[in-house]
Amino acid sequence: MPDLSPVLSKEDIEKAVVKLAQKISNDFHGRDILIVGVLKGAFIFLADLVRHMAIPVQIDFVRLASYGCQTQTSGSICLTKELEVDIADRYVLVVEDIIDTGQSLAFLLKYLTLKKPKSVSICTLIDKPERRDSQIVVDYAGFIVEHGFLVGYGLDHAENYRHLPAIYRLQD
Ligand code: IMP
Ligand code: MG
Repeated sequence: MPDLSPVLSKEDIEKAVVKLAQKISNDFHGRDILIVGVLKGAFIFLADLVRHMAIPVQIDFVRLASYGCQTQTSGSICLTKELEVDIADRYVLVVEDIIDTGQSLAFLLKYLTLKKPKSVSICTLIDKPERRDSQIVVDYAGFIVEHGFLVGYGLDHAENYRHLPAIYRLQD
C-alpha cells in the first residue's frame, strides 16, 4: 500500500476505545442511554466501543452523506437514513468516526434537537479541528489529529480502505 502512511495502530485504537468506553460508562451510569451511530464511517468504532461498555445501551443509526468521492466536503449534507427509535426524553450519545469541518454534526444536531431528547452528547474516535467551521462541543474524543485525510477502521476514501484494522494518512 504505497500511498498510505501509518497514523494509528490497531493497539493505539484499542487502548483509546477501552478508555472512552470506561469514561462513557462512568458518566452515564444509571441512565438509559441511546447510542446514535453515524453511518457508514462509525460502524467499526461503534461495534468495538459498545462491547467495552459496562452499562446497557440501545443503538440506532442515521446515515449522513457529504463527501461523495472527494476528500473535500461538498458542502451539501443530506440524511439518507432516518432514526428508527424515538429519542424524545432520552439521553443520546452520537458516535462519529471523525469530525472535520463539523458541518455534518451541526446538521445532525439540529435534526436531533427537533426530536426533543433529554440531552445529546458527542463521541468521536478522531477530532480533526484544523478545518472546523461549526461550533461543536465534542464531549469524548479518542484522538486529535491535526491534518491529512485518514482512512481505515471504518474511514473510507471513495468507499475503499474501511476494512483496514489500523488508520493511515492518504498521501496526495
Ligand atoms: P465534516 O462535516 O467536515 O465534519 O465531515 C464529517 C464526515 O466526513 C465524517 O463523519 C467522515 O465520514 C468524513 N470525513 C471527514 N474527514 C475525513 C477523513 O480524514 N477521512 C475519511 N472521512 C472523513
Ligand atoms: Mg462520519
